[in-house]
Amino acid sequence: MEDRIPVIIDCDPGHDDMVALVLALGSEKLDVKAITNVAGNKVMEKVNRNTLNILNYCGVDHVPVAAGAERPIVREYARKDTDGCHGATGLDGFDFPKENPLRLSEKRAIEVMADVVRNSEKKVTFICTGPLTNMGLFLRAFPDLHEKIERISIMGGTCHFILTEPFMEFNTYLDAEATKIVFESGIPLTMYGYDVTYSVLYHEDFLEKLENIGNQTGDMMAKLLKEFMGLHNRVWIDLGGAPVHDACAVSGVIDPSVITKSEMMYVQIPLQSGPLSGATVCDYAHRSGKPANVEVVFAMDNEKFFDMVLKSASNLK
Ligand code: RIB
Ligand code: CA
Repeated sequence: MEDRIPVIIDCDPGHDDMVALVLALGSEKLDVKAITNVAGNKVMEKVNRNTLNILNYCGVDHVPVAAGAERPIVREYARKDTDGCHGATGLDGFDFPKENPLRLSEKRAIEVMADVVRNSEKKVTFICTGPLTNMGLFLRAFPDLHEKIERISIMGGTCHFILTEPFMEFNTYLDAEATKIVFESGIPLTMYGYDVTYSVLYHEDFLEKLENIGNQTGDMMAKLLKEFMGLHNRVWIDLGGAPVHDACAVSGVIDPSVITKSEMMYVQIPLQSGPLSGATVCDYAHRSGKPANVEVVFAMDNEKFFDMVLKSASNLK
């Protein structure tokens, strides 16, 4: 484990969070020190259950899982259980075993984050695939630990791609105050937003490759991603395939060469009420005069990415 990259994953499973977890847990390059959950796609209880079910089914029983924030730092958790494209459970499409011996840590997310960072010999990389509430709270609560953070890699935001409104993406707007804390922290930050995640779509042939791995992890993924493709393309947009948003934010930590186009730029997070509240306003023309604070990813090597996912899945149960 000594030459692996120590990471903490903060997530809100969710189908694409599941792919992110499999990609990270099955990678020989990463040492997943902890997984922390945040309310986002679904309420905390469902997110917790989904994370523990994914780990149990993939045969991972050594990574601590901690519950985190049940709502944004300031804003209301304005989500109905029927919202989104992950179904009622947050992982519709696969029935996990009822019995699961895994249990949550007794510590809360930011406590576990602090323990890992404080005790790590190497700087720790955070991979955030849900709203940034836990990350923002951690940064505010433990300023002395910022110097031990290597990078924060997030799925979030958008520069040019408009899914709903300009510059708006679920993870970064749901808790905009937390997003602002993270984006203004001065810690190296890589943003995998809709610009890149909607350029990395899976299709039916990828589901067959997952099934052909021949293990239960691949079978579970194929079933879940088949369901997600239908849900996503009905709820949001049908581009012929479906995105695995969150896994993109893991892939660049495993192998930065998977990123084929990215650019440093200043990204502002307006908080005042109005159409841009919680937006990621990207200064891609470099006219603000403000120093760049984010590496915005625009393109990846899709084939390399999906091969990484298949390899990680084959390394699990
Ligand atoms: O906008 C996509 C993001 O919102 C992904 O993280 C997905 O899991 C949802 O949380
Ligand atoms: Ca997510």
